[in-house]
Amino acid sequence: MSHTVTIEPSGHQFSIEDDDSILEAGLRHGFHLPYGCRNGACGSCKGSLLAGNVTHTGNATALSALDISNNKILFCVAHADSDIRIECREIGAAKDIVIRTLPCRVHKLQRLTHNIMLVQLKLPANERLQFLPGQYLDVLMKNGQRRSFSIANAPHDDAFLHLHIRLVAGGEFTEHVFNTMKEKDILRIEAPLGYFFVREDSQKPLLFIASGTGFAPIRSIIDHLHYQNSKRPITLYWGGRKPEDLYLTELAQQWEREIADFRYVPVVEHATEDWQGATGLVTQAVERDIQDLSGMEVYACGSPKMVNAARELGQKLGLPDDAFFADAFTFQQ
Ligand SMILES: Cc1cc2nc3c(=O)[nH]c(=O)nc-3n(C[C@H](O)[C@H](O)[C@H](O)COP(=O)(O)OP(=O)(O)OC[C@H]3O[C@@H](n4cnc5c(N)ncnc54)[C@H](O)[C@@H]3O)c2cc1C
Ligand code: FES
Repeated sequence: MSHTVTIEPSGHQFSIEDDDSILEAGLRHGFHLPYGCRNGACGSCKGSLLAGNVTHTGNATALSALDISNNKILFCVAHADSDIRIECREIGAAKDIVIRTLPCRVHKLQRLTHNIMLVQLKLPANERLQFLPGQYLDVLMKNGQRRSFSIANAPHDDAFLHLHIRLVAGGEFTEHVFNTMKEKDILRIEAPLGYFFVREDSQKPLLFIASGTGFAPIRSIIDHLHYQNSKRPITLYWGGRKPEDLYLTELAQQWEREIADFRYVPVVEHATEDWQGATGLVTQAVERDIQDLSGMEVYACGSPKMVNAARELGQKLGLPDDAFFADAFTFQQ
């Protein structure tokens, strides 16, 4: 059975099914409710029940007797038994999310190509990381240095944190990932970081431009938009040197089948004989196809050179400055 949840003070509303916790339903409808562990232990999702009835399933250990007498509930384990009104502070921007230092375990290492590794990280039991799709984390190395990697999974699918790590020849951390890192190794991370996330106050068509592993945060963003059933038109240009650099092209093709207004344009610099897609630099392919960017929002991610070229292209094609967002994969000097 379906009920309606109203959030105060924003007045936002969403529907909720019996199986869903308030948190799950809210996230699915695109509302950024605060959370941490997602199983009743940490209290990050605590808020007030102003009207209606809920049942807590599983543990609600973060609720004290005083909380209960004050009508506090835990959105992660509370289910609606009627239409309800709740009070909580919605997260409007990255600044509202707490940046945390956490240990995590390498859950799985999987080579996607000869020089790209999918690394899955598992946080300690009872810990979940709250982040916005598109943000990144820093790996804190024992020597005090840090290395940045974008989070490639979407927040709704957060059992493991996925990273797409490209091997940098001679690179201290990425050589370790490819040559000596083992499953069950422990890392320390700081997260979530960055401002490369989709601004939800706009309905403009979205143009994503990725080079290489710059696809990682875009994967998180598009998965999330798909999950939310967003109606914004999406175009993805993904460039690599060779066809195999587009290491999850099947996923982009799947989005083409599943998302109503989605277009995928793979681009390679050095085409093989059987290559049927676009060739050249990814920004050149955008320029060949699109003459006017004034009504769009552009999100570019990957090498600093590509990001600069995308910014310049935006300026040339009438993109307002406040409609360009980027993460450039710079490295520690
Ligand atoms: C916000 C952000 C998000 C990022 N997300 C990702 C991601 O999702 N996936 C990913 O693969 N990378 C990502 N990067 C790039 C990544 O952080 C670097 O490639 C990584 O730090 C290299 O670490 P290393 O210890 O192996 O190399 P280092 O030991 O730091 O460097 C070794 C040598 O390689 C050069 N170098 C290092 N990195 C690069 C590079 N990226 N390109 C060219 N030359 C380099 C250095 O100048 C140095 O000469 C991101 C960077 C930033 C800033
Ligand atoms: S998210 Fe930790 S108690 Fe709900």
